[in-house]
Amino acid sequence: MISVNKPLIGREEINAVTRVLKSGILTGRLGSGPMAKKFEDQFAKFAGAKYAIAVNSGTAALHMALWAKDIKAGDEVILPSFTFIATAEAVALVGAKPVFVDIKPNTYNINPEKIEPAITDKTKAIMPVDLYGLPAEMYKIREIAYKHNLFVVEDAAQAHGASYRGKPPGAFADIACWSLYASKNMTTGEGGMLTTNNDEYAERLHLLRSHGEKEEYKAALLGHNYRMPEIEAAIGIEQLKKLPTFLEKRRKNAETLTKKLSDLKQLVLPIEPRGCKSSWYLYTARIRKGTAKDRDTIIQELRKKGVGAAVYYHTPIHLMPYYCKQEKYSLPETEKAAQQVFSLPVHPGLKAAEVNYVAKSVKQVLK
Ligand SMILES: Cc1ncc(COP(=O)(O)O)c(C=O)c1O
Repeated sequence: MISVNKPLIGREEINAVTRVLKSGILTGRLGSGPMAKKFEDQFAKFAGAKYAIAVNSGTAALHMALWAKDIKAGDEVILPSFTFIATAEAVALVGAKPVFVDIKPNTYNINPEKIEPAITDKTKAIMPVDLYGLPAEMYKIREIAYKHNLFVVEDAAQAHGASYRGKPPGAFADIACWSLYASKNMTTGEGGMLTTNNDEYAERLHLLRSHGEKEEYKAALLGHNYRMPEIEAAIGIEQLKKLPTFLEKRRKNAETLTKKLSDLKQLVLPIEPRGCKSSWYLYTARIRKGTAKDRDTIIQELRKKGVGAAVYYHTPIHLMPYYCKQEKYSLPETEKAAQQVFSLPVHPGLKAAEVNYVAKSVKQVLK
């Protein structure tokens, strides 16, 4: 099966992990160990940010970002429902209410025009997501945030290597949150990162990550253990070096699919609006007409041919059992997209022949 995504780990990562294991330094008691510190410095440079704070998952990063701003019970946070569950989970974890708004049908990202009508006097933050690696409309979102004095957390979990108006994710946000999960454009196995230019948020994030402590056993505030282990950081350093090559291959594979599939009238192919560069974490096509059943049949047929097509995401968060009990939403574009999208493999481990085979299989299934 040609999987939709897979980690690319080489001798460099294995050697780096071995060196850490032999060094005997496996973590940093009060935040980052030496390897995590080095990874943070390099990631900050990559993201064009003043600070990068390494943590043990993207979910931890999202939770910490809201926590750093003291968002809590009684507050509301605006976000898309068409995203991975962790974005909403972070809101629920700090006790605030997730307020879901609809997406744009051509980018699958939060529709800025739907944000202002959802703002109340309880709204504290907006959490746009760079879905599939395509940046959200951060300039418009930033303007709304300034106007209403709102905090912006960009969920850039899927967007390593994306850019918006020539800038990396996070440039228009207060804090950006990244995932380093195994399937992502670069990985540490599990892991995450926060980036920010704000001194105050950075200071709080450093404390939150490690039990609220600056000094051992002197917790200054409530925290958690969200530290990144040294072996993960060592993998991250090697993956970051390889990221430009990974991204080039993803882009090339995406371009090949678009070229080969563009004559299929039944499909809407992914776009990069002007000023946006996708990280091509997922190449997500959509059936122009049809239901989830039609889409799922296509996936089954592709899988029979060894093409691991997959759906991100079958169930929008506002329809998940835990969240739908809380409030009913009408999000027609979200619900339609959830029924019609499917993602095809473009990861950098693919050979040219495999990309051609993916395209050929899609054509055969849709003929
Ligand atoms: C959009 C989005 N947000 C958040 C996360 C959470 O990241 P993690 O799996 O590292 O906790 C992920 C990744 O899985 C994601 O794709």
